[in-house]
Amino acid sequence: MSFRTCSGFCRCGRLFFDTVNSYTSIGCGMLLLGLERGRNVRYQSQQESEKTMPPVLQFSNAVDVATLQLWLKIAGQHFTQKQIAEALGVDARTVRRWKAGEIEPNPYQVGPALRQLILPFGAPKVDDAEFTFIDLFAGIGGIRAAFEGIGGRCVFTSEWDSYAQKTYAENFPDGHLIAGDITKVEASDVPDHDVLLAGFPCQPFSIAGVSKKNALGRAHGFQDETQGSLFFDVCRIIQKKQPRAFLLENVKNLMSHDKGRTFDVIRRALIGLGYHIHTRVIDGAHFTPQHRERIIIVGFRDEAAAHAFDFDSVPLPQKGKAVMRNILHRTDGSEPFIEADGNKYFDHETAAVLAKYTLTDKLWAYLQNYAAKHKAAGNGFGFGLVYPESVARTLSARYYKDGSEILVWQGEGKNPRRLTPRECARLMGFPDSYRIPVSDTRAYKQFGNSVVVDVMRHAAGMMKTALDADYEAPELGLVYKTA
Ligand SMILES: C[S@@+](CC[C@H](N)C(=O)[O-])C[C@H]1O[C@@H](n2cnc3c(N)ncnc32)[C@H](O)[C@@H]1O
Repeated sequence: MSFRTCSGFCRCGRLFFDTVNSYTSIGCGMLLLGLERGRNVRYQSQQESEKTMPPVLQFSNAVDVATLQLWLKIAGQHFTQKQIAEALGVDARTVRRWKAGEIEPNPYQVGPALRQLILPFGAPKVDDAEFTFIDLFAGIGGIRAAFEGIGGRCVFTSEWDSYAQKTYAENFPDGHLIAGDITKVEASDVPDHDVLLAGFPCQPFSIAGVSKKNALGRAHGFQDETQGSLFFDVCRIIQKKQPRAFLLENVKNLMSHDKGRTFDVIRRALIGLGYHIHTRVIDGAHFTPQHRERIIIVGFRDEAAAHAFDFDSVPLPQKGKAVMRNILHRTDGSEPFIEADGNKYFDHETAAVLAKYTLTDKLWAYLQNYAAKHKAAGNGFGFGLVYPESVARTLSARYYKDGSEILVWQGEGKNPRRLTPRECARLMGFPDSYRIPVSDTRAYKQFGNSVVVDVMRHAAGMMKTALDADYEAPELGLVYKTA
């Protein structure tokens, strides 16, 4: 396969800016701009194995929160908290809370000043990353966003859908190439990494070439039981690259799928690869106004790290605190203007969501009739109306069809409306700096397939603590021996 890495571009991609915002490229970014401009960066897609990436994807102007965190870290190496606060026009407590991840800095407010502050110190070094990770079945990078947020650096991505690649590349402009079909990637071509991340599609396993009877009496290798599934590809990369840890994400139903057999195969395969695993179902409603239960499987190669990990170590925020009001476009004049969106979803002059998101009389009548029919038959499934204080149902990848699972109430006698793609992004925990460069239909599919970023960040933070314990363990051993 023709996958190549491009580490020089990786290092500097984050330092290219939007000229509209009067930013310029700096440090080694400037050097690379000269070297890279005009070069075709290539990436793989599902539709075509290789395709020329449009220039806009090479030098995106996205300055996301993860980037700001990195800049804050660099600034922290040269200035006191007070000095940083003064330069940014905030108080020192705010800077401390940004650094601790308690609140997020606003890229549009502090980005330019922060960049100015670190300008003399050049580009962040690769070594600044606290750990490396790979992003399999990457979608639009929801899991990646969380792991970058805690100091990780992505060294490899696989995603075969070219529209998801477009959204991903625009939001994570670090320049390493996006590999396509993971089944075609040799495990030896995957760079070394500390943590493997995969929100793999769930598939039933048919025991390949092994009858049930034979299977019972033998030690199972993942090769026997998962052959032909995408989980097999996750296993073969773990086996070859031996990452220190992994995080796998899936729908809650994975546990009951095929009467629990699918999950049992997964569990045994991971343990068979020498990993200690923890699993937990977490509902996105702890963080965003959306019921979205997902299973998270976390595994550690090192026993000390596995022992140090505890899903209960950080309490989840109370469910129901986040409500739709927090993510819906505000019609009271306080809706922030997002440059990349312009008036695509929300008309800032009239302070209203565009009319095209309101259901037509025909569709609204159809959904009401359909719901009434099902109610009469004793089935509860119909449309889901949401109000400012509601928590929504799960956003699905089919949302683009009729939007019936989450319809926004617009007042008595008025037809409800769909969420806009920007509202979907917020419902999944993506910051407003996250760019949506695809059509509404694609965007609905992509967000419906993604993860609640905050759930991933929650798990990622606990994993990092455990991995730090993993590093400390041998030193403790030495102290005991010499004492
Ligand atoms: C459940 S989604 C994961 C979404 C991701 N966690 C996110 O935050 O957006 C699974 C993704 O796997 C991708 N995929 C499925 N089969 C694949 C394959 N053989 N190679 C690479 N990507 C694949 C799909 O296109 C889809 O985007």
